[in-house]
Amino acid sequence: MQFDVIVLGAGAAGMMCAATAGQRGRRVLLLDHADKLAEKIRISGGGRCNFTNLQARHDCYVSDNPNFCRSALAQYTPRDFIALVERYGIAYHEKKLGQLFCDDSSQQIIDMLDSECRAAKVDRRMGVAVQQVGRNGESFVVHTSLGVFEAGSLVVATGGLSIPQIGATPLGYQIAEQFGLPLTPLSPALVPLTFHLDDAERFAPLAGVSLDVEVRSGKVRFRENVLFTHKGLSGPAILQISSYWQPGQEIVIDLLPDIDAEAWLEERAGSEQLLANAMGELAWPKRFAEAWLAAQGANVRGKDLAPKKRRQLAEALHNWRVLPNGTQGYKKAEVTRGGVSTRALSSKTMMANDVPGLFFIGEVVDITGWLGGYNFQWAWSSGFVAGKNC
Ligand code: FDA
Repeated sequence: MQFDVIVLGAGAAGMMCAATAGQRGRRVLLLDHADKLAEKIRISGGGRCNFTNLQARHDCYVSDNPNFCRSALAQYTPRDFIALVERYGIAYHEKKLGQLFCDDSSQQIIDMLDSECRAAKVDRRMGVAVQQVGRNGESFVVHTSLGVFEAGSLVVATGGLSIPQIGATPLGYQIAEQFGLPLTPLSPALVPLTFHLDDAERFAPLAGVSLDVEVRSGKVRFRENVLFTHKGLSGPAILQISSYWQPGQEIVIDLLPDIDAEAWLEERAGSEQLLANAMGELAWPKRFAEAWLAAQGANVRGKDLAPKKRRQLAEALHNWRVLPNGTQGYKKAEVTRGGVSTRALSSKTMMANDVPGLFFIGEVVDITGWLGGYNFQWAWSSGFVAGKNC
């Protein structure tokens, strides 16, 4: 069967692209191997879909070339998506830091995109196995379990590798390689970090403790909560820094970002009180204070802390160095870092520079957003841009 455009992957980027192309009068086929539509949207944002971020800018994205996403983000902005959401009467709220969530359910975003596709007469087929992609002259030929489809434009929107249990596959990367497009290295991102065995044993009793901290890796820093888990560290601050972390690197945690730790310890220099108890006034859970101070060899009374040890402890409070031994992998990662190299794509259209008619959009591209709605905004923006040009 002949179409103008075949879109592989009916997720966030694929649906946006298909609807946009269909609205231009293009005959669009949207294929997905999953039985259910857009599962990642459904499970996102704790079931409420953090669908965009008011502050989405190119410097909120990790990539070999973060400037690449400027054009798409300018062509389709968070305001454009919000206007669509409002047109469908979907109630939403800002949770924090510009993060917009549905009041009710992420299913509303799926239904909205599905309605847009229907209105644009997109032919959507689910549960279709893509067996092979090839060329017939200028056209792309897609062999599937439903038969052979042909189109002048092929848009690859098959997402990343995270959460394989709901349908993630490497198909998009394989198609890129097949057509000679380079990939940047892939790794799980927005993912919990794991402790080495020693730390895992030492801090295991702290699972569930959450603290407001500043986490740094190199020059990048995030002020958010860290959460101790049975295996290591999680929470928004850690998920954010994980997108920058490389194996073998330390992360540095400021446990008291609003306080001068040395001055605070000095005030307790003559005190009979155990430091672990005094730290209650810093809103530290007692079991955390006890375990952390014990690990520093400093669970003592204020008056027993010698000046040199006080300086060391203050330094450790502001620069607690943790050497993770890995991540919890794609099973727990929200996204995949790396992907189809932006060098091989046009930032204005998302088309491959050397393969006319072949487009890559969404997470399969080497653009990884921060936690907080940035990844969906990239999916909408890149999907829209490809939809206008395919
Ligand atoms: P997406 O993964 O959405 O779609 C890819 C589609 O391709 C899928 O439908 C898949 O079935 C299909 N596909 C894959 N392989 C195929 C094959 N071989 N043949 C045919 N079809 C194939 N982001 C955000 O901004 N706010 C948030 O709140 C969240 N929350 C969140 C929670 C969790 C648990 C996860 C895992 C992720 C998030 N994200 C997020 C990230 C966000 O879900 C992600 O960045 C986008 O869904 C990416 O959109 P894409 O369309 O590129 O891929």
